[in-house]
Amino acid sequence: MSTNGEQTLDVEAVRKDFPVLQRTVYDRPLVYLDNAATSQKPRCVIDAVSRYYEEINSNVHRGVHRLSMDATSAYEGAREKVQRFLNARSTKEIVWTRGTTESINLVAQSFGRSQIHAGDEIIISHLEHHSNIVPWQLLCEERGASLKVIPMSERGEILLDAYEELLSERTKIVAIGHVSNALGTVNPVEHIIQRAHARGIPVLLDGAQAAPHMKVDVQVLDCDFYTLSGHKMFGPTGIGALYGKEALLERMPPWHGGGDMIKSVSFEGTVFNDLPYKFEAGTPDIAGAVGMGAAVDYLDQVGLDAVSAWEAELLTYGTALLDAMDGVRIFGTAEHKAAVISFEVDGIHPHDLGTVLDREGVAIRAGHHCAQPVMQFYGVPATARASMAFYNTKAELDTLVVAINKAQELFA
Ligand code: ALA
Repeated sequence: MSTNGEQTLDVEAVRKDFPVLQRTVYDRPLVYLDNAATSQKPRCVIDAVSRYYEEINSNVHRGVHRLSMDATSAYEGAREKVQRFLNARSTKEIVWTRGTTESINLVAQSFGRSQIHAGDEIIISHLEHHSNIVPWQLLCEERGASLKVIPMSERGEILLDAYEELLSERTKIVAIGHVSNALGTVNPVEHIIQRAHARGIPVLLDGAQAAPHMKVDVQVLDCDFYTLSGHKMFGPTGIGALYGKEALLERMPPWHGGGDMIKSVSFEGTVFNDLPYKFEAGTPDIAGAVGMGAAVDYLDQVGLDAVSAWEAELLTYGTALLDAMDGVRIFGTAEHKAAVISFEVDGIHPHDLGTVLDREGVAIRAGHHCAQPVMQFYGVPATARASMAFYNTKAELDTLVVAINKAQELFA
């Protein structure tokens, strides 16, 4: 494929794997810089999903017929791929979900409802995406627990001393984003986990923005839960996964009830299925799982070390370009960052900027990025955000600058 054995990345070659990158927008080449919202899909993922529907489509775990057996092995095979991708110990630790949001809700509702009580505390950070805030708020309200928020610095980094002070015997779980979607900060999750574990507190990492950009090894991290969104890592929308340590998942009650999550049902009672099926009620997104399996295979082939190295180069290049522009302010200057640049341009609302950029073929996200507390911290309603993937080029960042200049001329 598109890389050599030394894990360097041939960006022009990988771009050819993505059909949508070949299209134009308003007669201009598409410059797609909205990868934190969703990533584009390589041909192999699109083909895996189509092939599934063309050749296999059937329900899983239910039929004795050939198609159902093929669907089951494709679906379970994809689970094995995700297990290997994260280096989980067993497929029992990989639960299919609709994505990170559902994975966090699953933990909040199942772990939370069974193990969090009045007076208990949950720690998150100021940098979290709404999906790692609201499920815990709902739980706190229901259980009489409270949410403790680790403050952040001007650079967009978690304040570790404050974290230390928040940890107590009341803390029942720590839930932290591995990488901030709004600013790109890579949080010091090893340290956060180690400090929580010293007190026997489990840690959930929201991995939605990390897994597409860096190698994740849940055994090395020693996190207790890790969440993935397929669509952010070059797979389909509507599919994702929750990694959980087997012993923890075993102790957690089911969340959704329905078919497939049971061993036997009578009106007197139900015996629940083994892991991971206990958490997978109803017919799952089989095609999505197959597509996500193809996406992790693809990422493995490209090589996450090569991906990280190229994206670091893009981040340095793009940051220098924007820093050098008059009237541009970058939000989030953490020492460790993924390839996300959140910024504002003097006198231009991010939405207006996004609209002008769009006419130049440049797709960015303008808004609060589902991280309103981060916006409140900086006292802005919204930012413009360029978020990169390994298929982006330096020339595309040059185009971004030309487009911003155009907007500045228009609004001057
Ligand atoms: N969480 C997604 C983003 O950051 C939608 O844009």
